[in-house]
Amino acid sequence: MAQKNRAWWQSGVIYQIYPRSYMDSNNDGIGDLKGITSRLDYLQELGIDAIWLSPFYPSPMADFGYDISDYCNVDPLFGTLADFDEMVAAAHARGIRVVVDYVPNHTSDQHPWFQESRRSRQNPKRDWYVWRDPKANGDPPNNWISVFGGPAWEYDEATGQYYLHSFLSQQPDLNWRNPEVKKTMLEVLRFWLDRGVDGFRIDVAHFIMKDPELRDNPLQPPSDEPNWKPMGEYDRLIHLHDRGHPDVHGVFREIRALLNAYSTERPRYSVGEIHVFDWDDWASYYGRNLDELHMPFNFGLVNIDWKAPAIRKMVEGVEGALSRLHPEAWSNYVLGNHDEHRIASRVGPEQARMAMLLLLSLRGTPTLYYGDELGMLDGDIPADKEKDPWGLRQPGLGLGRDPERTPMQWDASVNGGFTAPEVEPWLPVSPNTSEISVAAQRGNPRSMLNLSKALLTMRRSTPALNQGTYTSVEGVPPECFAFIRQAGDQKRLVLTNFTSLDLRISLPNLGQGNLLISSYLDRAGRVDLAAFHLRENEGCIIELL
Ligand code: GLC
Ligand code: CA
Repeated sequence: MAQKNRAWWQSGVIYQIYPRSYMDSNNDGIGDLKGITSRLDYLQELGIDAIWLSPFYPSPMADFGYDISDYCNVDPLFGTLADFDEMVAAAHARGIRVVVDYVPNHTSDQHPWFQESRRSRQNPKRDWYVWRDPKANGDPPNNWISVFGGPAWEYDEATGQYYLHSFLSQQPDLNWRNPEVKKTMLEVLRFWLDRGVDGFRIDVAHFIMKDPELRDNPLQPPSDEPNWKPMGEYDRLIHLHDRGHPDVHGVFREIRALLNAYSTERPRYSVGEIHVFDWDDWASYYGRNLDELHMPFNFGLVNIDWKAPAIRKMVEGVEGALSRLHPEAWSNYVLGNHDEHRIASRVGPEQARMAMLLLLSLRGTPTLYYGDELGMLDGDIPADKEKDPWGLRQPGLGLGRDPERTPMQWDASVNGGFTAPEVEPWLPVSPNTSEISVAAQRGNPRSMLNLSKALLTMRRSTPALNQGTYTSVEGVPPECFAFIRQAGDQKRLVLTNFTSLDLRISLPNLGQGNLLISSYLDRAGRVDLAAFHLRENEGCIIELL
């Protein structure tokens, strides 16, 4: 098989940092850029290829940085542009790329553009946002609902019109159909590219183009099978008109052309946050000629029934859609992020080890969420410490995102080494740091941290894993998901057990193998695949001979 030379964003592994929660350098209880810089040695040792930083831009923090009031600066809470430059230089010196968050759908209501826009109907920036007259009876212009609950429209007394906000009312949607908006927002990309960033994670990327007529969304018939996680009120509608209008592809082509122009120097990358689970539809976001975003995020491993048949079906769906539509496209997988409950809490700590092995052996770029390399659990957040607006607006639905945003657990000291012991961190540090922390796990040869490291090292040094083909393996028990990754003559069999049952694996056709790693980190060596024993919650990577 011809071996392609994959770019870093294909063969590498990306590590997501939520800057508020990673490392606090000045003891104000909030993580910052200098804190991240101080932990780059750890990240280099871990063996990741790039970091993606959630927003660190000036923001009133109504949605913790996803409400931006200046796209081209750093919020003083996180540091300065000089701190940013220093972080990028220090990351690059260690061979670590830097991907930043780009939030094109909405600004903060405190952004000077919106302040202008709301001043009068005649203001030159009026059309930078989506303003509409009320209906005759005073109601909002259409039935759209905000992701975080409540109508997606806010009435502005002073000018007698409503403005659209797909998220909080403090996050007014930009009007990407206005050429000046598009031009100005593309300049933002250039600003960060010129500062040396290697790519962008594009927040709710497909929201930026809506139905130009702003038609009502159809009602969603009640169903036991929500498309994604249950999202309360938002699930009442089919989101046909409020996101993902086909015109978005044109914008993505412009973004790609801009990134390509910068890529002559070195490859730049884009990944769109696009929650779409029809895999053909999902694959369309690569662009007909692979000329749109480098990849749409694949959230298939999140909010799925954590069982072998469901996971296998999902992976085959992704592989099938790509091979039919875009044989040259490169997939990706994630287990979690700052919006989802942590994998170790969702599937349990034993399965979390197997899940890490699965993530790091599938075909597609893995993105790790900070702390998952330790098996960090969702934090317990007392009601009076809850911060996330989503959870606060729709209590009781489990939508709050504070639990997965608790500080990184560095050591077993008070506050886990995230901030000084006498400081109150912005969210409480979980009390389990004597077991779940970098310091506690570093010296334990079978810890989750050492498993993550071993898997990262193996993926990096094994073309079959970091760029090879994928083939499902038949003939294993239904509790097991098995597949082969191959590059040239190099073949790796991956066996994953989704249950706490012992499984007998009989694959006589595959003959003998060399077991390279078990998720327990307790065995290796020659195995007979005609009579192989996969223990409870175990994952294995086996070299086929
Ligand atoms: C994305 C972000 C999420 C944010 C929302 C609005 O889904 O991941 O954290 O709240 O967009 O920007
Ligand atoms: Ca700080």
